[in-house]
Amino acid sequence: MRIVQSVSDARDVVRELRAQGKTIGLVPTMGALHEGHLSLVRAAKASCDAVVVSIFVNPTQFGPNEDFAKYPRTFEADCAALEREGVDVVFAPSTEEMYTAGASTFVDVEGVSGRLDGASRPGHFRGVATVVAKLFNIVGPDRAFFGQKDAAQVAVLKKMVRDLNFPVEIVVCPIVREPDGLAMSSRNRYLSPEERQQARALHHALEEMERLARSGVTAARELIAAGEAVLAREPLVRVDYCRVVDPDTLEDLADVRGGALAAVAAFVGATRLIDNTILGRRD
Ligand code: PAJ
Repeated sequence: MRIVQSVSDARDVVRELRAQGKTIGLVPTMGALHEGHLSLVRAAKASCDAVVVSIFVNPTQFGPNEDFAKYPRTFEADCAALEREGVDVVFAPSTEEMYTAGASTFVDVEGVSGRLDGASRPGHFRGVATVVAKLFNIVGPDRAFFGQKDAAQVAVLKKMVRDLNFPVEIVVCPIVREPDGLAMSSRNRYLSPEERQQARALHHALEEMERLARSGVTAARELIAAGEAVLAREPLVRVDYCRVVDPDTLEDLADVRGGALAAVAAFVGATRLIDNTILGRRD
């Protein structure tokens, strides 16, 4: 496994792989890897000849009062896990390498970037879209792998790829959960034991919304009220949003008959967690 830190080295190793006729899969991450990330790596391994994983805690997607400084950084363990998965290349640039002094070009996916997490975290998706566009330009992957865990991020990036004609296929992988249902997240390690217990409420709220939708409730307002009621039971949980939206535009829906994304975000203590599920799809 090659570990490269500069843009030019990344381009060189990818060029070598391409010269061997290999297709390239890219898995963008911010490190602190868990089974959710590794599921993307496995999906990439299964459908591409060579896999590049980027590890970069991207400062432009963190707000001024967010956890950029204390975001977990576990580079050695991450590389060991990626080596075990048979990854070909780890691209781990410094902030200065990714954002050369004076960089002032950003990718703004208007509309969708201001909804769900984009409404709660102004500027977040501008940072995400910009860094992912840069990674696409540096690596030039055939396919790029993202988790459904970050459903709003998927909507933003799919639209960016469409709008800007990136020659890359976005592959979305299912949410990987802890045995008790909590969606895996690098931020789960911030939780105290009591918060960790109460954090299950996000999953429970979505399960309740799924249960009602399956039983024939189609009104978004009713489903949201039920989800919020589950979240309200836990004293350490403060709801940021609980919504039923169109999975592509992230606009609110009145009913779920055509298929809908139920998405929740909540602070558990000081830690902001997100989760989601698809509702009402009649296959
Ligand atoms: P990060 O939070 O490290 O997540 C990297 C990828 O792993 C994302 O596509 C995310 O959706 C996926 N992922 C995280 N937890 C998951 C889980 N429990 N199940 C399935 N997939 C999961 O998302 C980012 O980094 C950044 O915004 C990034 C795209 C790298 C741009 O900086």
